[in-house]
Amino acid sequence: MSPSPAFQLTRTLAEDVTGAALRSDVLRGLTGTPKSLPPKWFYDARGSELFDEITTLPEYYPTRAEREILVARAAEIAAATGARTLVELGSGSSDKTRHLLDAFPRLMAYVPVDVSESALRGAATSLLAERPSLGIHALIADFTRPLALPATPGPRLVAFLGGTIGNLLPAERAEFLAAVRGMLSPGDFFLLGTDLVKDEATLVAAYDDAAGVTAAFDKNVLAVVNRELGADFDLGAFDHVALWDAEREWIEMRLRAASAQTVKIRALDLAVDFAAGEELRTEVSAKFRKEGVRDELGSAGLELTGWWTDQAGRFALSLSTAAQRPART
Ligand code: SAH
Ligand code: AVI
Repeated sequence: MSPSPAFQLTRTLAEDVTGAALRSDVLRGLTGTPKSLPPKWFYDARGSELFDEITTLPEYYPTRAEREILVARAAEIAAATGARTLVELGSGSSDKTRHLLDAFPRLMAYVPVDVSESALRGAATSLLAERPSLGIHALIADFTRPLALPATPGPRLVAFLGGTIGNLLPAERAEFLAAVRGMLSPGDFFLLGTDLVKDEATLVAAYDDAAGVTAAFDKNVLAVVNRELGADFDLGAFDHVALWDAEREWIEMRLRAASAQTVKIRALDLAVDFAAGEELRTEVSAKFRKEGVRDELGSAGLELTGWWTDQAGRFALSLSTAAQRPART
């Protein structure tokens, strides 16, 4: 049931397509060397809940830093873009988005896009209670795949907040940004949140909190594979690891097998051996510098028109638009 007539929920991923995608990602990731899984599979209802809990942890600064920028700059972003539709990729709880929604006087439609149906429904329920006249067209969709956006009034602002772009590998980022460029008509803008490079201790603590919430989030991907593909991962037999790769300037989350073990995945008819201490990479979270963001946007045919950081310089929001010149190759 939709929470209100002003809310539409469209599933652009058929259930079986999602199942096939999980099967092929798990097969590829667990038979490859080193083993890995794509981070989008963290976010079932429990994973979305755990992420929301992460955003309240003392060590996890990105959410607070990005909120500080949104509070300070939302009016400026609204004036610069004049958007009548806000499309948000990986919208989750849409909690910080409220600062944007409140600042856009001409906004008619909000299009949150997420793989997590529970997050989309929760967000729409609370947004509509506060703003009954806002048209919400939620899409259950994978933002790394071609998106069919609803026909809503322009200009559009496409937002990708939270630093989630850092969870894509460099080649995936290039493909993703080119697709965003393809979504923009003249007069549309792209608002991007990027976490910035900083000292290793702050970064590692943000991904290995004292209360163990990030560890539970990390292991949740194993619970998803157990439930969806009939696997028998023992969550207690893996340890959460967060480490900073200084060369690639990204955090890696891994799950380390505490002992040698074999995991069976019934839906794939597969047995996967883990050596004691062997690690499965579950996420990268890249951190950025202004020049790198400008270059990656430029290579996708996007031109940086605004750059704001929080007071402490931990996180940045950038605004860009389709470049007049063709994309750099
Ligand atoms: N934007 C929110 C949530 C960030 S958590 C914030 O800033 O707090 C990342 C969100 O992206 C989750 O809600 C997750 O379900 C979603 N997500 C991750 N990979 C995705 C994908 N490939 N396609 C669509 N949504 C995705
Ligand atoms: C959603 N994404 C930006 C988070 C991040 O910081 O990379 C996911 C996360 N992983 C562990 N903690 C939070």
